[in-house]
Amino acid sequence: MTVIGIDKMSFFSPQQYIDMVELANARGEEPDKYLIGIGQTQQAVIPPTQDVVTMAANAADEMLTASDRKAITMILFATESGIDNSKSGAVYLQRLLGINPYARTIEMKQACYAGTFALMQARDYVTLHPTEKVLVVASDIARYGLHTSGEVTQGGGAVAMLVSADPAIAEINQDNQYLSRDVMDFWRPIYADTARVDGKFSANIYQDFFKAVWTRYKQKSGRSIKDFKALAFHLPFTKMGLKALRDVLPEASEEQQAALMAEFEASRVYSKRIGNLYTGSLYLSLYSLLANSTTLKLGDRVGMFSYGSGAEGEFYSLTLRPHFRGGLVSGQLEELFASRQQVTIPEYEAIFNNQLSGAADRELDTQHDDAKFVLSGLENEQRQYICH
Ligand code: HMG
Repeated sequence: MTVIGIDKMSFFSPQQYIDMVELANARGEEPDKYLIGIGQTQQAVIPPTQDVVTMAANAADEMLTASDRKAITMILFATESGIDNSKSGAVYLQRLLGINPYARTIEMKQACYAGTFALMQARDYVTLHPTEKVLVVASDIARYGLHTSGEVTQGGGAVAMLVSADPAIAEINQDNQYLSRDVMDFWRPIYADTARVDGKFSANIYQDFFKAVWTRYKQKSGRSIKDFKALAFHLPFTKMGLKALRDVLPEASEEQQAALMAEFEASRVYSKRIGNLYTGSLYLSLYSLLANSTTLKLGDRVGMFSYGSGAEGEFYSLTLRPHFRGGLVSGQLEELFASRQQVTIPEYEAIFNNQLSGAADRELDTQHDDAKFVLSGLENEQRQYICH
């Protein structure tokens, strides 16, 4: 049978960040609360010249060849920080990336969960049409507001994934278990540009959903923790994944517990320095695991836990393919970390308050943003995108 899964993965986050010790000092908190209690060391800062469309374009562009662009027949754009209430981010992406015009383009939303739903739609579509490829992007900016308790869990970026037959990275198994329940743990009313959240409640719901879908997965699949070489989690902040992992560790032998912990550390290297990117967070965790694990090999099963507030949880597994590291854009995150610039807390606050909003025409200063795709302003209420 043809294997269907993730063939390529690429990531983008902007060129500026803040240090969590500086944020803790500015907010009168113990630095260890942020570094250990939350599990974050740095946070991506999103300039006004980047939005979910430019970030998705910057991520996808780095992995797509000319022949991929011709073969893509569907673009699935997962986001909860979209730029329009009507038009999808995917159709902008099609133009910016020069993708086949005879492609379907659509945007999807269910908090942080939509990236997983998009990936499953892509898998099912390619299963029926194995000569075609689907581009999945998960792009978001996590905004809670200055001086809020959620501020330490902000961040942003985009993960792009190409789904195809005979993929390089991983087979997406048909073993998903999911659960939805109407819960008010986190939401963003249509008029607001920052999230509303019941923080501790949201963390409890995340753990409840993980335990529920994991239990159901074991019952339905007959598998146990022994069948997994690693687990990757949605990481709104990296301590959250650790809490979920600790819920299942008692099911493993001592030796496997140590191995699962080591893989978890590999999976949170990047998120610690980027922060939450909502729909893309689970996939940044997977990217980090694949790039930083020294023990994973062909055929290993990786468990994936996706969570989106509101709320929806899903557990499924991937099986690693022979060239799983070859499907990642080589050295991408290391280059970003080596070149991005630290900004002070007052500079970050000014950037936070200077996003494109409202209906008035505005030209943005794009000189300081050397990403390939940037937002240059608003004209007649239309976002203007340019390619450097
Ligand atoms: P808080 O109230 O500022 O923090 O909010 P806290 O008092 O709960 O402390 C956090 C942790 O630091 C605690 O550890 C403290 O003990 C520890 P825990 O008990 O949780 O293990 N701590 C220390 N550790 C070491 N040294 C110290 C120290 N001091 C304290 N000196 C909260 C934290 C995460 C609630 C807040 O930042 C928040 O509301 N964030 C946003 C919501 C969120 O991320 N929720 C996660 C689950 S929901 C989800 O994942 C979906 C989401 O991605 C959205 C979507 O789906 O679209 C958010």
